[in-house]
Amino acid sequence: MGGKLNGKVKVPGDKSISHRALLFGAIAEGKTTIEGILPSEDPLSTAECLRAMGVKISPIKKGEIVEIDGVGLNGLKEPEEILNCGNSGTTMRLILGLLAGQKNHHFILTGDKSLRNRPMKRIGQPLTLMGAKVSGRSHGNYAPLSVTGNILRGAVIGTPVASAQIKSAILLAALNAEGSTTVIEPAQSRDHSERMLKAFGADLEVGGEMGRHITVHPGKTLKGQSIVVPGDISSAAFWLVAGSIIPGSELIIENVGLNPTRTGIIDVLKRMEANIKLINIRDVAGEPVGDIQVIYKKNLKPFEINEEIMPRLVDEVPILSVAACFCKGISKIQGAKELRIKETDRLEVMARQLTKMGAKVDEHPDGLTICGGNDLHGCELDSETDHRVAMSLAIASIMATGNSTMQNSNASAVSYPEFWDDLERLRKRK
Ligand code: S3P
Repeated sequence: MGGKLNGKVKVPGDKSISHRALLFGAIAEGKTTIEGILPSEDPLSTAECLRAMGVKISPIKKGEIVEIDGVGLNGLKEPEEILNCGNSGTTMRLILGLLAGQKNHHFILTGDKSLRNRPMKRIGQPLTLMGAKVSGRSHGNYAPLSVTGNILRGAVIGTPVASAQIKSAILLAALNAEGSTTVIEPAQSRDHSERMLKAFGADLEVGGEMGRHITVHPGKTLKGQSIVVPGDISSAAFWLVAGSIIPGSELIIENVGLNPTRTGIIDVLKRMEANIKLINIRDVAGEPVGDIQVIYKKNLKPFEINEEIMPRLVDEVPILSVAACFCKGISKIQGAKELRIKETDRLEVMARQLTKMGAKVDEHPDGLTICGGNDLHGCELDSETDHRVAMSLAIASIMATGNSTMQNSNASAVSYPEFWDDLERLRKRK
């Protein structure tokens, strides 16, 4: 299709931080304000669930500061209706942790077709160890889920995978438990919950090798805060790869969150010898933030990634698989089996869609091997309702010869409502 990308782009607020600001603001005492919140479908699902439990949250609109009147750790009301988490795994999983200790209240949670087929036992099981009562389809693994708030006890819980959703659900339950709780992760996952809970006044310690042991001592009330949400590096990732692979491109992506638990994509692009520069690095409300300049570079090197770096780039695997198609040689993505239980099976979907375009992709149980450097051709694509797939395929289609169409292209609204407008604006036809 062609068309280099040029100019400046400000990606929307970080999705993980937006969810947490809403959730922690809801259970704090006093007012919380959120500047730069992501006004997309997933955080809207979190806000709707909280409103259904009596939390006052002002409308979430682009450019407007959101205000939350916190109800305190035990102030959530029993909702009259089923809580609908939409497409959002973070909403369902973190809210499960929040509800487990809301004594004597009963809650039912559900979501869209994708979410109803994502595993929830990974949350229900550790919460049950703390005394939670969670049940659901298929022995508690799938929504609709039912939670009856109970008295929780602190525990030491080792998680089988490095997942910030599991960790954060346990930390939220721990705030309401009797006795301290320690979560031990096999590798450190994104640490936004730890940073933000500390800022809200929780008694939380991070220790162990590489921040893998997190302990919460309950009993402290959370106090409302002013949160500033940086741009989402997982949304910036589409422009980082596009700017690197599309000839003639030069982009500046402004105000991007650079938390080291999220910057795996930058490390990999640097290893590929992409032309990427971090500028104006600063600290904003407890998170590192900067602008990123990316300039097209010829002859990028293929790459190999494995389970070690995976938690730091788990959401960037779809766009990295596109990058691999345009580096001459074999790229290997391994240790990525978590990708199979995201909004779609992202390994299968990316392999299927890129193969349609003529890419050489081999799918393995835990990853993809991609032989890059062959021309891709435009075709009828389908995001299969996955936001990150939609945006990854959009970048691939610019590099393909001939035009492409995409079914379910509006899936991007889950995390980046203005993606297609930004793409149109940055694109200069040859
Ligand atoms: C998220 C954690 C990641 C990520 C998801 C958001 C979060 O999931 O894929 O998009 O906000 O905690 P896992 O923690 O399950 O890896």
